[in-house]
Amino acid sequence: MARTTYTTAVLLSFLSMPAMAQVPPEQTDELVTEARSMVKDFSGSLKKALQAAIKEGGLTNAIEVCNTIAPEIAADNSTGGWTISRTSLKVRNPDNAPTDWQELQLHAMAEKPVRNGKPVETWQVSEASGQPPFRYMSAIPTQKLCLGCHGKSINPEVKAKLAELYPEDRATGFSEGDLRGAFVVTRENPVP
Ligand code: HEC
Repeated sequence: MARTTYTTAVLLSFLSMPAMAQVPPEQTDELVTEARSMVKDFSGSLKKALQAAIKEGGLTNAIEVCNTIAPEIAADNSTGGWTISRTSLKVRNPDNAPTDWQELQLHAMAEKPVRNGKPVETWQVSEASGQPPFRYMSAIPTQKLCLGCHGKSINPEVKAKLAELYPEDRATGFSEGDLRGAFVVTRENPVP
């Protein structure tokens, strides 16, 4: 009896091992497709909220959107084991600082944030403990719309408001086309 149980356990763990050790390529494709669609939704909602706030009350008013609404939209879009956030080599909010892996990807992206007209992307499927089983990043190039709060010459009123909210702000001095940062998508649950 004991022997049977042991054999079954060994057999089961053996059977389930290959599935855990390797994510089949078609499944990686599915994960990447989902990550891309999350980035599209998040960046679309954020840009819309930002443009509406600028139109309504100028840049100083729109700072509130980035300050409170951006993290809210990110939280709303993070469901079912998925998370989405933003990071950068030069962060405004220290909470957005990159992990070691993210920092490596950002350095690679900074050389050429856009390739063939599309933001550069990267992903990794990992079995290592303490790491998300799937992580994805997509470059965020600086656009004209961003310069009022991330550019080289910032209106004094905007500057003062930013300094008040973010005393450690490092996210200024960007030009159009520079890598502003990246979207980060992770799948925290074990990949089925
Ligand atoms: C009205 C001012 C304003 C504009 C315009 C603006 N941002 Fe920001 N941005 C902010 C603020 C404020 C934060 C900090 C948000 C937080 O606390 O998480 C921020 C944070 C970020 C971050 C997260 C990393 C970090 O530095 O903390 C990225 C990436 C980013 N912005 C990209 C952009 C891009 C790309 C554009 C243009 C499409 C843009 N921003 C336009 C104010 C602005």
